[in-house]
Amino acid sequence: MTTEMNLEQKFQDYVDAENKVEPKDWMPEKYRQTLIRQVSQHAHSEVVGMLPEANWITRAPSLRRKVALLAKVQDEAGHGLYLYSAAETLGADRMDMVEDLLSGKAKYSSIFNYPTPTWADIGAIGWLVDGAAIANQVMLCRTSYGPYSRAMVRICKEESFHQRQGYEIMMTLAQGSAEQKEMAQAALNRWWWPSLMMFGPTDDDSPNSAQSMKWKIKRKSNDQLRQEFIDKTVPQAEFLGLTVPDPDLKWNEEHSHYDFGEINWEEFYSVIKGNGKCNKQRMDARNKAHDEGQWIREAANAYAKKQEERKKQAAA
Ligand code: 3HC
Repeated sequence: MTTEMNLEQKFQDYVDAENKVEPKDWMPEKYRQTLIRQVSQHAHSEVVGMLPEANWITRAPSLRRKVALLAKVQDEAGHGLYLYSAAETLGADRMDMVEDLLSGKAKYSSIFNYPTPTWADIGAIGWLVDGAAIANQVMLCRTSYGPYSRAMVRICKEESFHQRQGYEIMMTLAQGSAEQKEMAQAALNRWWWPSLMMFGPTDDDSPNSAQSMKWKIKRKSNDQLRQEFIDKTVPQAEFLGLTVPDPDLKWNEEHSHYDFGEINWEEFYSVIKGNGKCNKQRMDARNKAHDEGQWIREAANAYAKKQEERKKQAAA
């Protein structure tokens, strides 16, 4: 057995024994690259995810709603920073990752390429998008890479607030006037299927899952998490008196799961290829913010350089 194969087997045994892989540990290059891919895309998703909601900060219906939405959007920025830092522990360069996003080369979650035409969309995002993110991120608290797993523990605490504030918005609307309930139902219709797509392609169509499960990067498959999310969320919709927009949704007593209709994978792949309703708008906004922030980066670099010079003079 070659040394490389020996090392890989030792690594697999280490992960199988439920040890956490730390930055300085030996790891297969493909493990490193898979994590840089996933963690950087996760970070991009957090940063781009601020945009659909920012659209409503100035138009929130009350000061309380505005404060909650502001706090959530600020949290997402922090999640992005944790995750870029986690990717940097694997040797990824921050500016390379940012450039990959701005150039359109890097992926971010498909879900953020949908518009938010009404206030109810903000409720549906918190309830469904953050609800789906929680299902995925609670699983990732047990991922084999230490820095990613620890970032997830911190992020999940904040996600719970995000989901609660979204569900409360939906409850207020569903229990409000007929027009408000209609607005909530329309938002559920818009966000239900794209939220199911967040979990990624089916296990049969996922090129990365098998290896990610073997290395315990993923602890549950895309389909398992999607099913868990559906089983938990359908009763919440029923409590609101809203109808999930899936005529094939049916409780399966034998399997204790909801059977559900076919997901429109054509839409999914079209959105991740850049043809969603808001892909261009999101990238234009990110590039504009980046350009407008150029002076801040220059000032921070100039300050850091000055500090370095002062330290050298003091040491001389
Ligand atoms: N949007 C965009 N691309 C997606 C996607 C989605 N919803 N689901 C899958 N893909 C991409 C994958 O990135 C992969 O492409 P790549 O190889 O070029 O990177 C391809 O489709 C095949 O998918 P796989 O299932 O084989 O890929 P993974 O094993 O990486 O699984 C994943 C996909 C489940 C999304 C996994 O990457 C993951 O768990 N990522 C971390 C969680 C995450 O990124 N969540 C995004 C939302 S964050 C969020 O919602 C913030 C909240 O605060 C609002």
